Amino acid sequence: MNEIRVPRPNNLDAFWMPYSDNKYFKGTPRLLARAEGMHYYTPEGTEILDGTAGLWCCNAGHGRREITEAIQKQAAVMDFAPTFQLGHPIAFEAAARVAEITPEGLDRVFFVNSGSEAADTALKIALAYHRARGEAQRVRLVGRERGYHGVGFGGMSVGGIGPNRKQFGAQLPYVDHLPHTHLPARNAFSKGQPEHGAELADALEALVALHGDTIAAVIVEPVAGSTGVLVPPKGYLEKLRALCTKHGILLIFDEVITGFGRLGTNFGAERLGVTPDLMTMAKGLTNAAVPMGAVATTNTVYDTIVNGVPAGIELFHGYTYSGHPLASAAAIATLELHRAEDLPGRAAAMEPYWQDAAHAMRSVAGVIDVRNIGLVAGIELEPRPGKPTQRAMEVFRWCFDQGVLTRVTGDIVALSPPLIAERQHVDRLFGTLAEAIRAVPA
Ligand SMILES: Cc1ncc(COP(=O)(O)O)c(C=O)c1O
Repeated sequence: MNEIRVPRPNNLDAFWMPYSDNKYFKGTPRLLARAEGMHYYTPEGTEILDGTAGLWCCNAGHGRREITEAIQKQAAVMDFAPTFQLGHPIAFEAAARVAEITPEGLDRVFFVNSGSEAADTALKIALAYHRARGEAQRVRLVGRERGYHGVGFGGMSVGGIGPNRKQFGAQLPYVDHLPHTHLPARNAFSKGQPEHGAELADALEALVALHGDTIAAVIVEPVAGSTGVLVPPKGYLEKLRALCTKHGILLIFDEVITGFGRLGTNFGAERLGVTPDLMTMAKGLTNAAVPMGAVATTNTVYDTIVNGVPAGIELFHGYTYSGHPLASAAAIATLELHRAEDLPGRAAAMEPYWQDAAHAMRSVAGVIDVRNIGLVAGIELEPRPGKPTQRAMEVFRWCFDQGVLTRVTGDIVALSPPLIAERQHVDRLFGTLAEAIRAVPA
């Protein structure tokens, strides 16, 4: 495989790259052309260690033959069939396989195509649920500062990232936010869940006092990934769960990055010991080989909506590609690998080594925090004076040019390798990162 060469494109103009500095990239392109196991390869064949599982998604490693063959086989059998008022066997099988590993009680699965669609779908299901049970006044959605739930209008609105919102003016109405849980003064260099901050969940009581019984749902990431690996303080999610139950509010976990073994369990809910009413997922669901996302709900949510009308369409929502045959095939094959190779178990077994390697970064000048859980770590750098984000971006580019893929958000380097990572990969990842932080000007 290594000898395969993929030519560089001649023209980089037409592709408007998402979430990218297009002008910089097109002047200095860094291209990935091929992938296998723990590595990407550039068009010239240079090996790049994948420290981010693509974008938190290729948990089983790249180029898994079992997944590729399942997709190829399904493409030959049936390329596409609608799931509106019709069905095809493989979508039902995929949903049943997902339901096998979701927390007990979260047994109904609505398929979408991305994490963003999963977030918007979960929010819509929450609204429809309250309406079906005669509480149509529950129209308010609560997210959290520094939360990321994709880029649809729903996810953007409940999300808590200023730059993601400010270009677009109008947001969803009736949205409020909890405070984020990042307390560096009290929790810096925490290993796993930090000690302090459970009381931040009490902010939900204040929102209930303000909004009364108009809150439909609270959506949070069990571990916030995109804003720099914010691990929930001990007791925080438990409190949030209790408050949601007390006030008749649905709790949605956005498990788009914490799902499928990343935290050493099937889902973050299991690792953190708190079960939501709805759960979104994507990315690792198909090992990212074909786009697919899903929302899992309790039977109560499903039954309330589905039995809420005597006949006819119960939920006026869905995507042409919900349960797409190729994505379903990829999901089934991925879940089979997940089970057969015990990917959550592999992550859990590697976690102590990973944690030690991550926290060894504390001795590198300029590192102001390290946080970790499962096979995720956030290494926060002292920002360059007056130029926030520049230092981490240069570290990212330096690592890439040395053959290691990292990810940065603000001045935080976020690492989340495929769950098949071995010690040598962990050593190389953190070793190169330490060199980069030393090499790049402060
Ligand atoms: C927690 C979370 N939710 C939603 C999304 C959006 O997923 P997508 O980019 O597939 O729309 C992401 C993407 O990183 C995510 O991390």
